[in-house]
Amino acid sequence: MADNWVELRSDTQTKPTAGMRQAMAAAEVGDDTCGEDPTVNRLEARMAELLGKEAAVFACTATQANQMAVWTHCRRGDELLIDETGHIGNYEAGAPAALSGVSVRTVQGQQGLVDVDRLTAALRAPALIYSPTRLLCLENSTNLGGGRTYPLDQLERIGAWAHNRQLKVHLDGARLFNACLARDYQPQVVAQHADTVTICFSKGLGCPMGAILAGSHEDVQSARRARTLFGGALRQAGIPAAACLYALDHHVARLADDHANARRFAAGVAAIPGIRIDVPAVETNLVFFEIDAAWGTAARFAETLAERGIKMYDVGPQRLRACTHLDVDRAGIEHAITAIRDVLART
Ligand SMILES: Cc1ncc(COP(=O)(O)O)c(C=O)c1O
Repeated sequence: MADNWVELRSDTQTKPTAGMRQAMAAAEVGDDTCGEDPTVNRLEARMAELLGKEAAVFACTATQANQMAVWTHCRRGDELLIDETGHIGNYEAGAPAALSGVSVRTVQGQQGLVDVDRLTAALRAPALIYSPTRLLCLENSTNLGGGRTYPLDQLERIGAWAHNRQLKVHLDGARLFNACLARDYQPQVVAQHADTVTICFSKGLGCPMGAILAGSHEDVQSARRARTLFGGALRQAGIPAAACLYALDHHVARLADDHANARRFAAGVAAIPGIRIDVPAVETNLVFFEIDAAWGTAARFAETLAERGIKMYDVGPQRLRACTHLDVDRAGIEHAITAIRDVLART
């Protein structure tokens, strides 16, 4: 086993830096459930402003924030619409059904991005035999979709389409800062097309935990109730909130390094025979690629790479995902490319 891993499985693997740990140690705290944690209050106010919303609430995880939004917008028996690869429908343990009694209706988008034509085809006219469609969930940037981002005009059309049909829009912006950087748009410009927005701090922003849900006063008040219901009401949460404030000051602009490393990784592996990759599709910090079946399965390939100190996820029979972040530098990327080339040359 290698001493120094090149950790490309996920940006969730990032560890707090020394500066972030200091910020946590120095955090002023109070009982957040009583609204008395000054650091949490500062984070919530800052995030509401950044996203152009009336209010925001601190949550333990992006999953929790997303599910607080589902609970807020829907009633039992409703359905939500989401791209077939969406995190809320695939990786949140069936929470829409389990926690809110909401069914998930999937739309076949493109790399996790939906458009008005596909949504129109998926939306059913109201009828007694159907569950009412109440909510549209979007992801920006996409995860399983390949780190793709929405053009602003597409988001605008989708937002108008949904609101004209009395649907609420929730944006799962777990990696919204990555999308903003890739598209050169501001968070509030994107957020204006959604009623509620989730931002995650424990991914590329490098915090140990934490997410924000932003929206109207009314929606955030309801989401606070959901947070209590889901066991996520917090006490001296200023400690993790201080890490989030630190990340806003120090870890947003540097996401550009992760994007540059992802592009370098994509270009490097694209030159290796037996690998299929869409290099121009690499917009943010996620790189998906496929190995030829002649080289064995993606799972076996990931195991072989792990023996050489490179960690990444297999996400399909031949498909792998590499994710760049704060704890992977350019040397690690070059090492990973060389290791992949060597492994395939020997297979
Ligand atoms: C798009 C998206 N939304 C939500 C989440 C949930 O984050 P967590 O597992 O930290 O709750 C993830 C996690 O990878 C994600 O990629």
